[in-house]
Amino acid sequence: MFKHIREDINSVFDRDPAARNVWEIIFCYPGLHALWFYRISHWFWTHEFFFAGRFISHLGRFFTGVEIHPGAKIGRKFFIDHGMGVVIGETAEIGDNVTLYHGVTLGGVTWDKVKRHPTLLDNVVIGSGAKILGPFTVGKGAKIGSNSVVVKAVPDNATVVGIPGRMVMAEEKKDEGRADLQHGQLPDPEAKAIACLFDQIRELERKYDILAEEHAELKKRIADK
Ligand SMILES: CC(C)(COP(=O)(O)OP(=O)(O)OC[C@H]1O[C@@H](n2cnc3c(N)ncnc32)[C@H](O)[C@@H]1OP(=O)(O)O)[C@@H](O)C(=O)NCCC(=O)NCCS
Repeated sequence: MFKHIREDINSVFDRDPAARNVWEIIFCYPGLHALWFYRISHWFWTHEFFFAGRFISHLGRFFTGVEIHPGAKIGRKFFIDHGMGVVIGETAEIGDNVTLYHGVTLGGVTWDKVKRHPTLLDNVVIGSGAKILGPFTVGKGAKIGSNSVVVKAVPDNATVVGIPGRMVMAEEKKDEGRADLQHGQLPDPEAKAIACLFDQIRELERKYDILAEEHAELKKRIADK
């Protein structure tokens, strides 16, 4: 248990540059308190004390503003930053190292008693206010922009933004342990722009060669006539 608590605290240090010390994290992070309420409520739920599970989950919501259904499945190193307004539905499944910001909903779009909430694989980051609605999978290392509404599966390492969510980046990145928003790990936009220019120059050269060949052939045909 203490190993888990230490891991939870380290997850906050890793992902919130504003975190200053352990006491601050233990007392001032509602996302962490919500996770601890969830762990207790999930234990009751999985041991078939359904009312106790729901009631503890409800207390967690009352104290933190984060509503996590006790039936949801959550992996290790989960972090909810700021907390308020997060809703995680009963059949949601969350892998390891996942980060949610405030106002995120992992919701369903049917009233049938089936798997109706999303599955988030490892290292996913969901921006503040985003809604992920339906029983599909958000792939490893994917990022969802703030206030997006995502209603379809998201491939590994993709970045999806907007309403409805559209993919703005789909590069096959190596799984680096955790996705985060640290400046040092952001792509270099100038290098990217120069690489694009080189690609375009190569493409223009290729087209020029084709045109030059066709032109020479045409000239030869006219001369032969
Ligand atoms: C989605 C996100 C992770 C993308 O970050 P990134 O990989 O650095 O990508 P970029 O910022 O280069 O954005 C890529 C494109 O998506 C657009 N975009 C980014 N976030 C967007 C959003 N939330 N809604 C709409 N468009 C968005 C950018 O304008 C850019 O478009 P362009 O290529 O036409 O210029 C980031 O924008 C985000 O929303 N992070 C969540 C942060 C958060 O919730 N913080 C709360 C702290 S309290």
